[in-house]
Amino acid sequence: MTERIAIVTGSARGIGAATARRLATDGMAVAVLDLDEVACAGTVKEIADAGGRALAVGADVSDGAQVLAAVERVAAELGEPTVLVNNAGVIRDNLLFKMTDDDWDTVIGVHLRGAFQMTRAVQKYMVQQRFGRIVNLSSSSAERIGVSFDVFQKAAAERIPVHRIGQPTDVAHTISFLVSEDAGFVSGQVIYVAGGPLC
Ligand SMILES: NC(=O)c1ccc[n+]([C@@H]2O[C@H](COP(=O)([O-])OP(=O)(O)OC[C@H]3O[C@@H](n4cnc5c(N)ncnc54)[C@H](O)[C@@H]3O)[C@@H](O)[C@H]2O)c1
Repeated sequence: MTERIAIVTGSARGIGAATARRLATDGMAVAVLDLDEVACAGTVKEIADAGGRALAVGADVSDGAQVLAAVERVAAELGEPTVLVNNAGVIRDNLLFKMTDDDWDTVIGVHLRGAFQMTRAVQKYMVQQRFGRIVNLSSSSAERIGVSFDVFQKAAAERIPVHRIGQPTDVAHTISFLVSEDAGFVSGQVIYVAGGPLC
């Protein structure tokens, strides 16, 4: 079977790292892309130690020139990418009247401009190979104000139908399905990984 090349943005840690490890286990070569290339080394080593192929790439997804250079490097050193997981994210949660213009620009820059830049840079390889998978991560809002994180997690778990909070691997396994060879008829969907229905 063809070895697919995947790029997972924001994969130095958290959900991105879990996704990169999972896609490598699935047999893909994975570009571990994050702001700081050195910070990607841990995820890359875990993949390599498990027998997989991975490349650490430092880039800011909101910067067009860095994105182009990063994707070209992935194509040259790992292979032409046809799987893209736009996972890089930042949190600037605040009351509306306290949110600064800079906070707004940062969130829009990473989540929207970043996903746009990455997708535009990768899509030519998808067209050439007549195969492509793009997964964009988003978030439902969390109300954390005034409570400790442990209290917040416990309260959240009680409200969730399966009575636990989600783990990075829950998201990674879902992404694994969405980018798989057989999932090509699942397209344009919003899938909640939330332990129950959201509306
Ligand atoms: N953790 C949650 O509860 C949760 C829930 C729903 C959705 N999400 C979404 O999942 C994604 C990952 O969440 P997480 O909890 O693993 O986050 P995290 O903060 O642990 O990791 C995000 C990664 O993105 C990287 N990053 C930030 N800005 C970047 C940029 N400009 N260019 C490249 N990399 C950049 C960071 O360096 C970091 O390694 C985010 O998009 C987030 O909105 C998270």
